[in-house]
Amino acid sequence: MNTEPASHVLRTIDFDAIDAVILSRAIGNSAAMRRFARGDAPSSRVVAESLAREFYPFCFDFSLFLAAAISHMRDERARLLLVANLYEEHGDLDPSRIHPELFRAFVRALGLDPAALEIGEGTAGAEAAARVTAICRNGPAHRALAALYAIELLFGPACDLMKYGLEHAGLPAQGMEFFHVHAGADVVHASQLRTCLVSACKTSVHRQEALAIAAQVADMFYRLFDRIASARPGLASVA
Ligand SMILES: [Fe+2]
Repeated sequence: MNTEPASHVLRTIDFDAIDAVILSRAIGNSAAMRRFARGDAPSSRVVAESLAREFYPFCFDFSLFLAAAISHMRDERARLLLVANLYEEHGDLDPSRIHPELFRAFVRALGLDPAALEIGEGTAGAEAAARVTAICRNGPAHRALAALYAIELLFGPACDLMKYGLEHAGLPAQGMEFFHVHAGADVVHASQLRTCLVSACKTSVHRQEALAIAAQVADMFYRLFDRIASARPGLASVA
């Protein structure tokens, strides 16, 4: 009698492991981020400025990650899901609703100049963006999708925490739109990415590679937000 689990059972186990490894780096595990969300950071304003400086380069490049991932996808149905995500990132083609534009409203609400922050030279955000860009450009599809899935799974709950924390930074309402749009578990995007990832992982080697990339990117994303939330007066320019 064959005692091996059926292949679809193995696949489920593999994808559960990918979810577990990503969620083990949930941004809410950061004590600094929880402190910021409660309004107990040494300076909520300094953390908000750190968020603007560190995250803008990553936010600016997110659509380009998606576009690069799409370029590797030969499965048309799976590709459609990412195209829909890219369309949303572009504000459903309304230039005033493009997601980086929503983030620029946050940057301006802090009195900072988005143009000066776009490259983000020397920031962990720019470094993280460069790593994700390299993964998404190099492909193949399962590696690019594993990176994007990790980001999508972690980002919605992270935005919830940042939204709570930013309430203590004295920002005008128009500066908060980006966080309202992205807050909450992004169930739709995460499940779309998961569907694409499952379809792109054709072998157990692909699934193991996807697990490794998801672990790397989740860890990098966690460290980025832990660093942002740890900013304090006097260290803001370093963060
Ligand atoms: Fe977005």
